[in-house]
Amino acid sequence: MQTFLVTGGVGFIGSNFILKARKELWANIINLDKLTYASNPQSLEDLQDDSGYHFVRGDIGDIELIRHLLEQYQPSVIINFAAESHVDRSIFSPQDFVQTNVVGTFQLLEASRTYWEKLSQNKQEQFRFLHVSTDEVYGSLGSTEPAFRENTPYAPNSPYAATKAGSDHLVRAYYHTYGLPTLVTNCSNNYGPRQFPEKLIPLMILNALNEKPLPIYGDGQNIRDWLYVVDHCEALYLVLKHGRIGETYNIGGNNEQTNLAVVKKICAILNELAPKPDFCYSSLMTFVKDRPGHDRRYAIDCSKIVKELSWQPKENFDSGLLKTVQWYLSNLKWVEQVESGTYQTWIQQNYTDREAVLSTRAKS
Ligand code: NAD
Ligand code: DAU
Repeated sequence: MQTFLVTGGVGFIGSNFILKARKELWANIINLDKLTYASNPQSLEDLQDDSGYHFVRGDIGDIELIRHLLEQYQPSVIINFAAESHVDRSIFSPQDFVQTNVVGTFQLLEASRTYWEKLSQNKQEQFRFLHVSTDEVYGSLGSTEPAFRENTPYAPNSPYAATKAGSDHLVRAYYHTYGLPTLVTNCSNNYGPRQFPEKLIPLMILNALNEKPLPIYGDGQNIRDWLYVVDHCEALYLVLKHGRIGETYNIGGNNEQTNLAVVKKICAILNELAPKPDFCYSSLMTFVKDRPGHDRRYAIDCSKIVKELSWQPKENFDSGLLKTVQWYLSNLKWVEQVESGTYQTWIQQNYTDREAVLSTRAKS
């Protein structure tokens, strides 16, 4: 069986990918993760007795560690999920994003290149470096503009998106300059089990259950294309197996929704699954000061992966959202784990006195 070195595998998408990879025996997995605030080791506790899974705590920017892991485990695939991933945090602390997303990806590429150059020709041909990126690198769309295609020019607007764009360019350069067999995927907003509750959907589910306000930025009319995380993981595996090296593949859910519509749907599901007498969850909806530089609309044209790799998202938004809410209701131990620690500090920083804090930052 092949060995995949997965980075950032204790986070949301990485943990879903690893669980699926082990369940369906896609490969043995070495999971390198720094265990930042965004990770929850409970996500992978089902694998504690799995001899095909090995966890290493470390930083993708630690090139000596990466070199050592590559020599020791001889993976045929590297999948880079590791990143600082939250746009709002990138507004407060952009330096962490530059460090991991740009410098870290560079170090990972450098170690991968020297490892790959020493492989036999046969192993060089099999090797893949898959970089998991985002639709945010393409910027913001007007309401009638066509969806992002793989050749849409990059126009990142947040520090997060800019650092992801930088890492995408480095990956592209390593293919063109050194011949490293790379693949890049740019996907839309993922949702599903095990997502850290700083992101819209889990934040709204957990705030609602705790009867806390549901903070909707601006007018709530910003649009995102929602992709169920398991559909995304299947797409990544197809790209690994059959994608053309040096290429980019857009992955989306064909499912554009305004934020307001998403929050209303969550409230409606909770009214059914966790009813409270004389109480409607939507009464908690609160409009708050907008995110600075808030992109208005993202939409993905995923016709390339559909045509070339016969991939289709299986989940529709109603079924995927229902599964997601059910997962959070059934996994309150996982929720407790993330809500302890520094999570409350972040909630305080981003939501309490939001008007005053963001106005001060905009002026300084
Ligand atoms: P996440 O924030 O949930 O998880 C990131 C993981 O990376 C965490 O486990 C963290 O500990 C680890 N990590 C952070 N810095 C690291 C470092 N320097 N070295 C090693 N590990 C480190 O992120 P996610 O939502 O699972 O996203 C995974 C990838 O997919 C990211 O690259 C992100 O940019 C991209 N992406 C995410 C979405 C989405 O909707 N979540 C959409 C498009 C693209
Ligand atoms: O598009 C892909 C990107 O999706 C990924 O690259 C990022 O890693 C991921 O975080 C996500 O970015 P967004 O900024 O779109 O996701 P977020 O969940 O933070 O916000 C979704 C929308 O909801 C956005 O328009 C902002 C809005 N929002 C978010 C939060 C956290 C609110 O209205 N209130 C909130 O409290």
